[in-house]
Amino acid sequence: MNFKVGIRQTRKNILLTGTIVLITALFSTLLINWHFTSKTACIRFQNGHIIPSYSETDAYIDINWKNFLNQTVPIDLGNSTMVFNSIFAALKQSASDIHPLGLTYFPATVRKGTLLYHTTPKSEIPDSFEWLALDHEFSYFFGVRFTQYGRNSTVISHKYKSKPKVLDNSPPPKRKHEDRYHFLTFETSRDLQLIYLDGASAAKTETGEMDTQKLLNDIIELDMSDDEKKQAREKYPIEERLYADRICRWGKPLGLDGYVRVEIGFEVILCDFLNGSVELISNITIPRPNDILGIPPVVNKTKENGWSIASDGSLVEENLTSDQVSLLDREDYWQRIFKQYSSMEGFDWIRAGNIHDKGENRIFLDYHYMITGINRTEMNPDPNGRRLLNQEMNKTLQKEMVNKLATVVKTYQFGQTRNTNWQSHIEQLTDKFAPMLKIIQRILNNDTGKDLSSDDIALQVTRYTFNFILRFRNIDPDDQLALLQAKDLAIYQYVKPIGPISTKTDLFIWSAIVRVVTEIIDGLYAIHTDLFPIVQNNLQSTFDLDSFTERQKFEKVLKAKQQINSLVSQLHWIPLEYECEKKCEFDEVCYTPSWGPSPLSWNSPLPRDNGTEHINFGVHYDHKLGRIVINNKLKCINVDLILQK
Ligand SMILES: *[C@@H]1O[C@H](CO)[C@@H](O)[C@H](O)[C@H]1NC(C)=O
Ligand SMILES: *[C@@H]1O[C@H](CO)[C@@H](O)[C@H](O)[C@H]1NC(C)=O
Ligand SMILES: *[C@@H]1O[C@H](CO)[C@@H](O)[C@H](O)[C@H]1NC(C)=O
Ligand SMILES: *[C@@H]1O[C@H](CO)[C@@H](O)[C@H](O)[C@H]1NC(C)=O
Ligand SMILES: *[C@@H]1O[C@H](CO)[C@@H](O)[C@H](O)[C@H]1NC(C)=O
Ligand SMILES: *[C@@H]1O[C@H](CO)[C@@H](O)[C@H](O)[C@H]1NC(C)=O
Ligand SMILES: *[C@@H]1O[C@H](CO)[C@@H](O)[C@H](O)[C@H]1NC(C)=O
Ligand SMILES: *[C@@H]1O[C@H](CO)[C@@H](O)[C@H](O)[C@H]1NC(C)=O
Ligand SMILES: *[C@@H]1O[C@H](CO)[C@@H](O)[C@H](O)[C@H]1NC(C)=O
Ligand SMILES: *[C@@H]1O[C@H](CO)[C@@H](O)[C@H](O)[C@H]1NC(C)=O
Ligand SMILES: *[C@@H]1O[C@H](CO)[C@@H](O)[C@H](O)[C@H]1NC(C)=O
Repeated sequence: MNFKVGIRQTRKNILLTGTIVLITALFSTLLINWHFTSKTACIRFQNGHIIPSYSETDAYIDINWKNFLNQTVPIDLGNSTMVFNSIFAALKQSASDIHPLGLTYFPATVRKGTLLYHTTPKSEIPDSFEWLALDHEFSYFFGVRFTQYGRNSTVISHKYKSKPKVLDNSPPPKRKHEDRYHFLTFETSRDLQLIYLDGASAAKTETGEMDTQKLLNDIIELDMSDDEKKQAREKYPIEERLYADRICRWGKPLGLDGYVRVEIGFEVILCDFLNGSVELISNITIPRPNDILGIPPVVNKTKENGWSIASDGSLVEENLTSDQVSLLDREDYWQRIFKQYSSMEGFDWIRAGNIHDKGENRIFLDYHYMITGINRTEMNPDPNGRRLLNQEMNKTLQKEMVNKLATVVKTYQFGQTRNTNWQSHIEQLTDKFAPMLKIIQRILNNDTGKDLSSDDIALQVTRYTFNFILRFRNIDPDDQLALLQAKDLAIYQYVKPIGPISTKTDLFIWSAIVRVVTEIIDGLYAIHTDLFPIVQNNLQSTFDLDSFTERQKFEKVLKAKQQINSLVSQLHWIPLEYECEKKCEFDEVCYTPSWGPSPLSWNSPLPRDNGTEHINFGVHYDHKLGRIVINNKLKCINVDLILQK
């Protein structure tokens, strides 16, 4: 027996070693091909499916001032701004909620040694996929419940029962229960191989926010038998858990550990907790808040227990006994104290999420292997009016994306090679140009609060363009040493990549940046060309020249105004369109509403009733787009807003 086992073991080891050598050899070849040759890679799934070959690039394109405009690949302005804005918003809380309709799969890593949090009433480490919050406040909110005391306690539970149908797997805010929650802290034992889904990807909606998950789900489903589909449906009646099941099954042979979504703060959906990806380092069971305060649990006010309850769930005050009334008075008082602490629990979560308006630096994105729906079909460039799963995104195109994603996940170790931080490049551009475009737009739209003449407008606008243009100009335009046409030099300065262009995707992103920057610089030059002659003319007319007529000046100003408005409206930049109403105080945050569960309000993209009914704080209904969108002026809020809820 032992002997046999010995032989089997040895054979198995040999086989295993052989396989590892083969796999390693195959992988190295693929990785080399990936970067340096145009040979296509053909990869076989373990389950026998063949993924069509997909060659990323033979790139490492050398960009220099002589060739840069010829190196771009064609992409129109609409698609370019979508790429630009998707990368700008990646892993930013506020921006992901403002542009909630994600289009892109970003390879992502969470490095070894990162802490992740989960709360659960169960006594075991999850044996299936589950969420892991990156912020402890997020996890705490889902586990520590401040039960409702007093007269409103029956109404509240009733109110949540009448919530619209949502695809939520997570407990809604303030759900009533008495379960003990365990707060688990995990530490990653290795770098996790993940996919980040952009936009408001944990929104639990059917309006497009979850399309990146749905697309994967739909394509994976094509290979499932009817029985398998039925079983999965029964096991996971909630859509987002069904998606998770399928994505994890699909990703398993590829080595995918899970994916990343935004809630209030970011979360990892981890597919397997038990195969060495994470280690449990702490498990605490936090006491109930009422025990800490030394007050008894809330009294269960039901008809069965002798309380008079109306059909809407509220208590019938006139039919209560005097004992019941005095208990309620006592509970109402407790509730006022309790609410102080419970509202801060919610506000702490909002603040933790708000910190990620700047980004989430514990997750690393690999832009140069991102797979996007952009430039595959025609889409509304308005970030609130588009959808990844649109009419034209047919199954062929969807399969193409999923196959490419599979290849990328399978062949490529995320975060291991040098990879250009396109987000940082894009932020430098918005930091430079957003203020410039905004102020020029204000002046030209007579929005400065001052009464400006055309002469004033021309002078004020050219204050912003004069030096910008002068610094790229040579005294002699034909001088060879000037090297470039002035405008091309301006563009080159802003598009020169800050790292290598090593894949087709890098080239795609960079081309989009070139397209956007070209549009801006063309716009600035055109506006300057319209308005600067007014200034020159005014200066010179004191000597001899005839000045422009008021009518001519007015027309030039009007043309410049149309130019800037059209430019700004096509860019769809968040920094151009959204801002905080003021600088917030220390006890406040500049609040961007999120989609899905929140301590403040559960926003749904579609209004509850037929139109503008039940619109929550900080959002409004956009009739043109037919959905709820976030207000352009963001407001500072503090905990009192939650206290009043
Ligand atoms: C770049 O393209 C332009 C026209 O498209 C052409 O005139 C020029 O020679 C090209 N430059 C190089 C370096 O290929
Ligand atoms: C966490 O601690 C609780 C209480 O001791 C226990 O019941 C539970 O099994 C523990 N969970 C894990 C995953 O260790
Ligand atoms: C019950 O809730 C309403 C609405 O939120 C609030 O105005 C009222 O003060 C609450 N009543 C008590 C007794 O807390
Ligand atoms: C761990 O589980 C994930 C998800 O199922 C899988 O993709 C990965 O290959 C596994 N890793 C190891 C080391 O078994
Ligand atoms: C409240 O009482 C009802 C019966 O009247 C019971 O079904 C329910 O489980 C009780 N709830 C709690 C939280 O004890
Ligand atoms: C209060 O109790 C009386 C007597 O039982 C009953 O007739 C009445 O309908 C109750 N009122 C309400 C609002 O339920
Ligand atoms: C984007 O690219 C697609 C595919 O090339 C094209 O059909 C569409 O017109 C382009 N523009 C926009 C705004 O979608
Ligand atoms: C899907 O769309 C692409 C791009 O528009 C088109 O080339 C292709 O023929 C379409 N495929 C099917 C099956 O309709
Ligand atoms: C500009 O706005 C001011 C008030 O802010 C107004 O008095 C003036 O008429 C406006 N000028 C034009 C050209 O619309
Ligand atoms: C964008 O789509 C157009 C039309 O399908 C295509 O010609 C172009 O090469 C695409 N651009 C990139 C960068 O993939
Ligand atoms: C919504 O319903 C209200 C009242 O029922 C009605 O007055 C209003 O016109 C409706 N709005 C829309 C957009 O249908």
